[in-house]
Amino acid sequence: MKKILVTGGLGYIGSHTVVELQLAGFEVVIIDNLSNSSKDVLQGIERITGIMPVFEELDLRDKQATITFFQKYDDISGIIHFAASKAVGESVTNPLLYYENNLSTLITVLQQIQHKKDISFIFSSSCTVYGQAEMMPISENAPIQQAFSPYGNTKQIGEEILKDTAKIAKGLQVISLRYFNPIGAHPSTEIGELPDGVPQNLVPFITQTAIGLRNELSVFGNDYPTEDGTCIRDYIHVVDLAKAHVTALKRLVDNAYKTSFEVFNIGTGKGSSVLEVIESFERVSKQQLNYKIVGKREGDVISAYADTTKANTILGWKATSTLDEAMLSAWKWEQKIR
Ligand code: NAD
Ligand code: UD1
Repeated sequence: MKKILVTGGLGYIGSHTVVELQLAGFEVVIIDNLSNSSKDVLQGIERITGIMPVFEELDLRDKQATITFFQKYDDISGIIHFAASKAVGESVTNPLLYYENNLSTLITVLQQIQHKKDISFIFSSSCTVYGQAEMMPISENAPIQQAFSPYGNTKQIGEEILKDTAKIAKGLQVISLRYFNPIGAHPSTEIGELPDGVPQNLVPFITQTAIGLRNELSVFGNDYPTEDGTCIRDYIHVVDLAKAHVTALKRLVDNAYKTSFEVFNIGTGKGSSVLEVIESFERVSKQQLNYKIVGKREGDVISAYADTTKANTILGWKATSTLDEAMLSAWKWEQKIR
């Protein structure tokens, strides 16, 4: 059984990916410092898969502890690296935290594996690297734009670090997955998103408003040049996203296929407006959402949705859940945790 390290494996996307890895027969070791997650997630994972993953509580900024970890687990075949800080606004007010936590940790991990004979690495990147792309849907060939925030910059620099390292580390194969907008929760309601404080993202704000934690949702702008005036995004069910990691990993560990560095867009290929997301929520929850239109949010792109042809054809992966299914899972999760 191949042993896979999942850094940040107790977080939102990480925990769903651990489940899919275990279901696919991989043995999982999780590193997490619990800065944005809780140990209870381990029980949720075990209840779904029947397997308790190995967990090492460790801060990847602690270089010595990371070195010791890799000495203990010298039989790891692949790494899925989720551990990072992800609040865009906080990255503007505390850029050094982001450069340290998102980049120094990546460097430390790569230093431990760059001499290995055969190691696969999956990186959590983001569609934010494209900024406001000129053409929709966005293909992997779309130019990378100047990042809006230090957070976005860490994803761009992270990809550059990986590309340069993979060039010289002959045993290292890297796939960078550029996620569009992950939403929803595991259908079992055992794991899901646990936003810290007031959610900045649309879907947790919607579910928290519906459950009564927030008074109303503010819709940021309705005079964008889109059909209904609100921004368009590509919302992907987190379980579909988790499965994309397993498929990408299999491409590297199972197949003889050897690459040094590849990128794939991971989205549904379908754009939905903010009002369409609200409508979907109202449809599946059978209740009206309290919302009002307010001014635009600074830094928002008008539209971003993926051309997923590359992932569909080369990886053989495709998102299967609808927006309604993802919204229903988000709503069930919100009801369970309150
Ligand atoms: P999350 O915060 O839920 O998960 C990240 C996990 O990493 C948390 O459990 C946290 O405790 C852990 N962690 C953070 N710093 C660490 C450190 N120094 N050492 C050990 N553990 C550490 O975030 P998520 O939404 O699951 O995102 C996972 C990855 O995907 C991140 O790299 C994020 O930037 C990227 N991403 C997320 C989104 C999104 O919308 N959620 C979109 C694009 C990319
Ligand atoms: C945000 C991040 C981006 C990250 C992505 C996925 C910013 C500027 N960008 O982008 O870096 O990769 O999440 O995690 O934060 N909206 C409202 N009201 C709200 C919240 C959101 O109308 O209370 C709208 C936004 O204007 C946007 C859409 O909903 O049009 C989605 O917003 P959000 O969930 O924050 O995702 P992104 O803007 O795509």
